[in-house]
Order: sequence, then C-alpha cells, then structure tokens
Amino acid sequence: MKKRLNVLVLFDVPNPPPEQPDYSQELATPDWKAEADVINALKALGHELRLLGVYDDPGAIINEIRSHPPDIVFNLTEEFNRRSALDRDVPALLEMLDARCTGNGPTGLTLCKNKGMAKEILSYHRIKSPDFAVFQPGAAIRRPKRLDFPLFIKPLKDEASYGISQDSFVDTDQAFEERVRYVHDRMKQEALAEEYIEGRELYVSILGNRRLQVLPIREVIFTKIPEDRPRFATFKAKWDEAYRQRWGIENIFAENLPNGMADRIGRVCKRVYRALHLRGYGRIDLRLTPDHRIFILEANPNPNLASDDEFAQSAMKAGYTYDTLVQQILRLAF
Ligand SMILES: Nc1ncnc2c1ncn2[C@@H]1O[C@H](COP(=O)(O)OP(=O)(O)O)[C@@H](O)[C@H]1O
Ligand SMILES: [Mg+2]
Repeated sequence: MKKRLNVLVLFDVPNPPPEQPDYSQELATPDWKAEADVINALKALGHELRLLGVYDDPGAIINEIRSHPPDIVFNLTEEFNRRSALDRDVPALLEMLDARCTGNGPTGLTLCKNKGMAKEILSYHRIKSPDFAVFQPGAAIRRPKRLDFPLFIKPLKDEASYGISQDSFVDTDQAFEERVRYVHDRMKQEALAEEYIEGRELYVSILGNRRLQVLPIREVIFTKIPEDRPRFATFKAKWDEAYRQRWGIENIFAENLPNGMADRIGRVCKRVYRALHLRGYGRIDLRLTPDHRIFILEANPNPNLASDDEFAQSAMKAGYTYDTLVQQILRLAF
C-alpha cells in the first residue's frame, strides 16, 4: 500500500447534491460526526481526498471514478436513494468499476440486512440466535405454537433500533398481532417475531478479513429500570439523551463477565462474522443469559465509525488511536 493514497470518500446526502458542493457546514453538525471524524483522520494520515455525496444517481459515482480514479474508496454510505435496502448496491457498483472499497461487500450487506436470512445461515452453523418467525404483509398473522411469550417484534430489514419501542415486547396474542401489523403498516416491511431473550446486552466489534481481531466487548446497562421490567435498546434508549439520563442507560465496557466468557463470546462472534461473509469491519450484537447462553441478535456490517460510537471506542481500548483505526480499515481493503 502506498503511503499517500488518493481516497474517494462516499457518504449519504439527503438531497440531490449541487454542482460544486461544499459540505463544511453539514460536517460541523452532530449528524455528520462519523463522516467528519473519518475525513479528518484521512487528512491527518496525509492522504489526498475527494468527497462525493451520494443521493440517487449511480452515474455520479461512475463519472467520479472514471474521471478521478482513486486508489481506494472509503465507503460511508448506508443507503441509496434514501432506501437502506440498497446499501449493498454501492459496493456492488464499485466492484463493477473495479474500484477497491473499504468495509463490507454486497454479500455481507445483503445477508445481514435481512435478519431472517442471517438467522437461517447461523442455524446451519449451529450458532444460537432467538427462535423466530417472519410475517409477510398481507398474509394471516398467526403465532406458531412453538413461539411462547414473551416475544419481541421487530422490522425484518432495519437498523439503529428503528421501529423498536416498549411495544416491541409482547406477551399477549393481541399485543403480538398489533405490533406485527404496526411493522407492516407503518414500517412497510415484513415483521420478525423472536423469542425474547432476557440477559446482558453485549456488542462485539471485529476487524479483519480472514484473520480476525476481536475488540474489547461493550455493554449497555440500564441502571434505573426496575429489575423485573424488560430492558432493551429502544430507539429512544439509543438516541434520546434525556431519556437515557432518566433511565440511567449507559454504554460501557463489559465488566465481570464469567470466567472464560469473553473468549467464548469472541470465538462465537468470529464464526458469525465468517458465516455472514463479513470483511473489513463489523459489530455483532448479542445477549448473554443468566445461565451463560449466548444468543446472537444481529450482525452489523460497516457499523458507525464516529469516534464516540461503539466500534471506535472498542478499537481505542485495544490500543488503536482513531487515526490508526482508519488506516487499518484502509489496509484491510487492500
Ligand atoms: N430477541 C430479542 N430479545 C431481547 N431483546 C431484543 C431481541 N431482539 C432485539 N432486542 C433488543 O432490541 C434492540 C435492537 O435490536 P437489533 O436486532 O439489534 O436491531 P437494530 O438493527 O435496530 O439494532 C437490541 O439491541 C435489543 O436491546
Ligand atoms: Mg442492533
């Protein structure tokens, strides 16, 4: 790998970009923190940058790659044309153009985006994830007998806790049906019903392609929610600072795991990463039950790279600086 690379940074923009875009104002806002952090690190590392906001025009990506062939594309997009299901098509297009790109390819993105499909693959590999059923919009909503309450209902193909609220936890057939219908009608997609797993919620970040580095495990703790109430990461619990304060919700490094458990979790998460064809970087969300069973909730290809988010926090705990983490992600793409 050359010392000084020509890097094209791709990221999502909410509107068609103007002729000569200048993103300095947006980059100063909290919403653009991951983009700003990565761009600043790339500059500090001495790379040559070009920025391209991606909205709905594949032609813009093709033109940019043809007119200014980069050594590498740093892919920060998470959607295309505001559709998160099309996230996989950006690296697919780059592959067609023979442009090298950071992070995950179309296969990993496709498998992880459909949580049901990912769970089917994990089941083949005998990796535990909550028992489940998928409910298609328009079809009858009937709970299979094998799925006992309490259940957890979530959109099949979403992320960042979209569509997850207190009502996602259901323990009656009526609540179950209402929530499945909500996912169909309001979120316009299939509903995934899973057995509800009580336990500690852990996030495991992994860097690598074939040789994998498991980074220190993070945990969400719910310090002010009564013991007898279900605790899980709703949209508010993840993103609403006042709500987090009120309920004492904090993201910390996991402490006091049972003996040998961190290694066991690391090994399972590596198997998940490989089974779902992840590469570059990814984060596995899981639950650890009081009787020490590990249930995989989902895998996140290309998790958020903001310096204060889980992935970077884990990497820095492992000895990376933010800049060396960004450099390592580039290196892995070669
Ligand atoms: N089967 C389950 N049992 C218990 N809690 C769950 C279950 N599935 C999801 N959750 C809770 O909902 C949150 C979001 O679910 P997840 O599958 O990670 O979706 P997202 O892609 O939105 O992050 C999890 O972090 C966890 O707190
Ligand atoms: Mg998650």
